[in-house]
Amino acid sequence: MTGAVRPTDPVPTGDVPTGAHATAQHDHHDDRSGGADGPAHVLLTGGSGFIGREVLARLRKRGDRVTVLDLAPVPAPFDEDPGVDRIAGDLTTDEPYRVLEERLDRDPEPPTAIVHLAAVTSVLGSKERPEATFRLNVACTQRLLELARTRGIAVFVLASTNAVTGDVGTRVIDTEIAPTPLTPYGATKAAAEMLVLGYAGSYDLAGAALRFTNVYGPGMAAKDSFVPRMMRAALSGDTVKVYGTGRQSRDLVHVSDAAAGVLAAIDRRFTGRAVIGSGESVTVLELVDRVRAVTGRPLPAEHVPAPKGEMPAVRVDVRRSLTDLGWAPRVGLDEGLAGVWRDFRGAAADG
Ligand SMILES: NC(=O)c1ccc[n+]([C@@H]2O[C@H](COP(=O)([O-])OP(=O)(O)OC[C@H]3O[C@@H](n4cnc5c(N)ncnc54)[C@H](O)[C@@H]3O)[C@@H](O)[C@H]2O)c1
Repeated sequence: MTGAVRPTDPVPTGDVPTGAHATAQHDHHDDRSGGADGPAHVLLTGGSGFIGREVLARLRKRGDRVTVLDLAPVPAPFDEDPGVDRIAGDLTTDEPYRVLEERLDRDPEPPTAIVHLAAVTSVLGSKERPEATFRLNVACTQRLLELARTRGIAVFVLASTNAVTGDVGTRVIDTEIAPTPLTPYGATKAAAEMLVLGYAGSYDLAGAALRFTNVYGPGMAAKDSFVPRMMRAALSGDTVKVYGTGRQSRDLVHVSDAAAGVLAAIDRRFTGRAVIGSGESVTVLELVDRVRAVTGRPLPAEHVPAPKGEMPAVRVDVRRSLTDLGWAPRVGLDEGLAGVWRDFRGAAADG
C-alpha cells in the first residue's frame, strides 16, 4: 500500500473508526519474558510492515522466536537477529508456503502461533484492485488457517479493521455490530474474520480478529493514511486536503498499543473479535488542529468532495477489550502525534 504519496493528496479517512476512552492500564505485555508459557515461536506475516515491525520488536524483546514471512526484507536490527527467521516471498504464490512447510518439517520447535498482518491495506487501493485484494486478504488467510489446522498451530491472530462495519451512522462501534462494509477492503477483512471464527469453532484453534482503528505512530513515513499526509504537508508547507466537511469523526490508535493488543491476543489464546482503538474520537478538522499545535505549522486545509466508501463516523467502544484481552490503550493522541512529528523531522533532517 505504499507507493509515491503527494503531500497534497486528500486526507483519507477510510480506515479509521469510539467510545469512552478506556483508562490507560498497565501494559502487562511489556516486561514479560515470553508469553504465558514462556518463550514461544510466532509466525508473523507482514512483519516488515508498519505494525509488523512493532509486533516483531515486542516479541523479540520478551524472547520469543519469530519467523517473518513478508515480501519486503526484514528491517534492521532484526535482519541479523538469530532469533528471527526470514522467508521472503509473496503470499499469493506457492513458493513461501513450500519454504515454510519444509522448515516446519525439520524444526524441533515449530511456531505455536500465527499472526497474520500481511494484506492489501489501502482502502482506496482495494477499490482499484478488488480481485488482488480478495486473493491476499481472503484466500491467503484461508491458506494460513489451513496451515494452522494441519500443523496443529493453536493460535491465529488476524489484523482486521473497523472498516468491516461500514456506515453505522453515529452509532458507537463495538464487536456486536453486524459487518456492512463499504469497500472491497472492508469486505475482504470481514470475510477473513468469518474464516478465522469458523476455524476456531471447528478445530482446536484459538482465532482472534483484532479490529484496529487508524493506527499511527513512528515508522509510518511510507504510508498514505491521513496522519503521515498531514505530517508531510506540515513539513513542506503544502495544504492538506480534507474530505467533505471534515466533521466526520475518527479514532486513532498508537502503533505500540496496536502491537500490545496482538501480544495480548496471543497470550490469552483469545477467540473472537476485539476492538483495538483509542476509544476517543476526534473529527478530521480537530485532528488537523491537533497536528497544527504539535508541529507549530500552519497546515492550511482544503476541502474536497468525499469519495465513495468514506465512513461518515468512527466511534469505537474499547472497554470489552479490557475484559477479553486485559488490554487498554495507553498512548494519548497529543503524545503520539508529537512522536510521529519527531520521526518525520528526523527523517527529513537525515535525508
Ligand atoms: N495501519 C492501519 O491503520 C491499519 C488499520 C486497520 C487494520 N490494519 C491491518 O493491519 C495489518 C498491517 O497493516 P500495516 O499498516 O502494518 O501495513 P503495511 O502495508 O505497513 O505492512 C504490510 C506488510 O505486508 C507485506 N505484504 C503485502 N503484500 C504481501 C504479500 N503478497 N506477500 C507477503 N507479504 C506481503 C508488506 O510487504 C508489508 O511489509 C494489515 O492487515 C492491515 O489491513 C492496519
